[in-house]
Amino acid sequence: MDRALVLILDFGSQYTQLIARRIREQRVYCEIHPCTLPMERIRAMAPRAVVLSGGPASVFQDGAPSMNVGVFELGVPVLGICYGMQLFCHLLGGKVERADEREYGPARIEVVQKTGLLEPFDAGEQVDVWMSHGDRVAALPPGFEPLARTDSTPFAAAADLRRHIYGVQFHPEVVHTPRGVEMLAAFLFDVAHLEPTWTPVSFVDETVARVRARVGSKAVICGLSGGVDSSVAAMLVSRAIGDKLTCIFVDNGLLRKHEAEDVVRTFRDQMRLALVHVDAAKEFLDALAGVTDPEQKRKIIGRVFIDVFDREAAKIDGVEYLVQGTLYPDVIESVSFKGPSAVIKSHHNVGGLPERMKLSLIEPLRELFKDEVREAGEALGLPRPILWRQPFPGPGLAIRCVGEVTPEKLRILRESDAIVDAEIRSAGLYESVWQSFSVILPVRTVGVMGDERTYDHVVAVRAVSSRDGMTADWARLPHDLLGRISSRITNEVRGCNRVVYDISSKPPSTIEWE
Ligand code: XMP
Repeated sequence: MDRALVLILDFGSQYTQLIARRIREQRVYCEIHPCTLPMERIRAMAPRAVVLSGGPASVFQDGAPSMNVGVFELGVPVLGICYGMQLFCHLLGGKVERADEREYGPARIEVVQKTGLLEPFDAGEQVDVWMSHGDRVAALPPGFEPLARTDSTPFAAAADLRRHIYGVQFHPEVVHTPRGVEMLAAFLFDVAHLEPTWTPVSFVDETVARVRARVGSKAVICGLSGGVDSSVAAMLVSRAIGDKLTCIFVDNGLLRKHEAEDVVRTFRDQMRLALVHVDAAKEFLDALAGVTDPEQKRKIIGRVFIDVFDREAAKIDGVEYLVQGTLYPDVIESVSFKGPSAVIKSHHNVGGLPERMKLSLIEPLRELFKDEVREAGEALGLPRPILWRQPFPGPGLAIRCVGEVTPEKLRILRESDAIVDAEIRSAGLYESVWQSFSVILPVRTVGVMGDERTYDHVVAVRAVSSRDGMTADWARLPHDLLGRISSRITNEVRGCNRVVYDISSKPPSTIEWE
């Protein structure tokens, strides 16, 4: 199960994750670790190549991040990007100078030598790149030669061709370096002689074998929500250990229309998982009665979830492991190099459950980015509607029911949300918008129906486009579609006489209303 690893040492660049994405896209496995990773650990990992990320620091700064020069004695190719290149020039006997001005933005390099990571280009060729660096390399260390130059630097790219150490003063990992992918591929395949073997199928096979070896015949539980991450995690572990895995699906009464039946049908009937369906709606709704504060609502839901889950798990004999769908971005978030003052973010998915239950964690997805999770899910035979579901928050409809959560408001929310969902799907927009849903407001307004005045609830429709949920823009849905959604909701959902469309972006708003 030995797999070729590219080690990315992180010096705090905003692009470090992108470097990892680009390498993984080439089907080569890589991991990001802080630049302070001890040499023994690096040796034990036996990387086949090392990439030094960029970073915001200057090598002249006090406390500037540095690295162990033993990395250059490993005998494997090294690629330094921006700060990474300046640092190795500084450490290996070259000269780095403070530049008067930061060089930032598009630039054009001229290829001097067609070799190494510039093998795909011809000598003399002009190549568009994205620069972002403060200091500049004034002299290369002994043994190095220039591979590319720009008007402002003779060393836009350089290498020690004997030791296979490469450096670039631009960012091959960003889209503004249109042919950067070719450079990275040349580094991986021509210089480091790696093979593109990191595929979803190889990941599934390796992970299944690893989980099987670790768990043996012990019992394992998994909280299954029906979302992409917990579904893929459960399927992987189930493939490894079969019915030694019990999935617990807590129905908190805050799910969308037909959601609970769908989860049970898909996972118990179709995927053949051992699934316990716990109907805890009453317990959650009782605990939420009278509560209007958003933070308070979230806390209550979290606490009741742990109570219910713990109680159900206790009914299963000999449980020793808990499966969690932690993803790689969460892992990186807690290890990446942010300088001495950085606060390390504690992992948000863990939520206190494993400590309380004294269980060991199995996190089969902790090496994967979100799109790789979907690919693994596909390789495991999970249906497309599960893999391409829009995100749905853990606290469910409670945070879309502004103010107090009541059965009546939940009914209106569920019915109107089902209409939004159906109309967005039939317009072919379900996978291109990030999320689309309805929200019920704690106000009533006057309307007129037939000859009578009504005094009913307002539903807000929310649809946003986003790449990762961190920022979002309101979706420019066609007016006809919005019109159809509005008239269907006011006609079909009893208790709602007005529909509004949320045209706020994040920031300053959030995607959810609470
Ligand atoms: P906001 O509302 O903060 O949401 O813009 C960003 C993304 O996170 C989801 N979200 C949650 N997911 N538990 C979750 O699992 C939560 O408590 C939670 N709150 C928000 C939200 O749906 C959106 O995709």
